Amino acid sequence: MPIAGVRNIVAVGSGKGGVGKTTVSVNLALALKSLGRRVGLLDADVYGPNIPLMMGINRPPRASNDRIEPVENYGVKLMSMGFLNPGDKPLVWRGPMLHSAIQQFLRNVDWGELDYLIIDLPPGTGDVALSLAQSCPITGAIVVTTPSDVSLEDARKAVNMFAQVRIPMLGLIENMSYLIAPKSGERIDVFGQGGGKRTADQMNIAFLGELALDPEVRIGGDTGKPVTTRPSGDEHAAPFRSLAEKVEERCRQEQTTGPSIVVED
Ligand SMILES: Nc1ncnc2c1ncn2[C@@H]1O[C@H](COP(=O)(O)OP(=O)(O)OP(=O)(O)O)[C@@H](O)[C@H]1O
Ligand SMILES: [Mg+2]
Repeated sequence: MPIAGVRNIVAVGSGKGGVGKTTVSVNLALALKSLGRRVGLLDADVYGPNIPLMMGINRPPRASNDRIEPVENYGVKLMSMGFLNPGDKPLVWRGPMLHSAIQQFLRNVDWGELDYLIIDLPPGTGDVALSLAQSCPITGAIVVTTPSDVSLEDARKAVNMFAQVRIPMLGLIENMSYLIAPKSGERIDVFGQGGGKRTADQMNIAFLGELALDPEVRIGGDTGKPVTTRPSGDEHAAPFRSLAEKVEERCRQEQTTGPSIVVED
């Protein structure tokens, strides 16, 4: 059953950890917001929720009678297990508990009217993706990878995992693609070159572009002031704004043509 009032649900996943899912989720959400869209951001990484830190807010949401009011910052509505369990204490989840937490995040939170609900997934396994797929129709998933062969190998698994749980594929995004040397302006391909595009072509899925390894992006995340909160025209935010436009386009296509699921054996 769809979530009333929520038009598009976009899950952001990867095979490997640490490739930039949360960074992409946060900046994609804020870039969509800067394009005038109504946006929510759900931190479904219940094992290591980083959204509160990256979005610069950590106060518990108000709850009454089973309904949860999402927290809001920079005009984006947020929900994260990090708001409910702050600090360094890890949570251990059994399967049914995890499923019910995901369902509550989707169904018991008053998301209101949203053009996009962006969902940041934990790395690796498909248990959260499966819970999502069983809970409501997902418009599609984005897979984040770096250009390195190990990340690409895991990205292929993630693409196939989404296909297995019947979540349409919006496309692959290559993060940390290159570094621009501060003095010379030279492009350095730290993790190799062109792997994301090649992998997307091989798997017959959309390639959503490259994002540079940009110290400003890292600082923005660590200080809770993502680059996409800066005024339009900012050079560090621009790549995320073009990503947002591509994601909008892919969502429109999925909504009109229906899912295109590719399963690779
Ligand atoms: N394009 C980028 N430029 C610079 N730093 C980046 C970029 N993308 C991500 N980072 C940094 O890399 C680190 C890992 O990123 P992030 O937490 O978004 O990855 P993740 O895939 O969500 O990790 P996890 O699998 O642990 O959830 C963070 O410190 C983040 O600021
Ligand atoms: Mg993360």
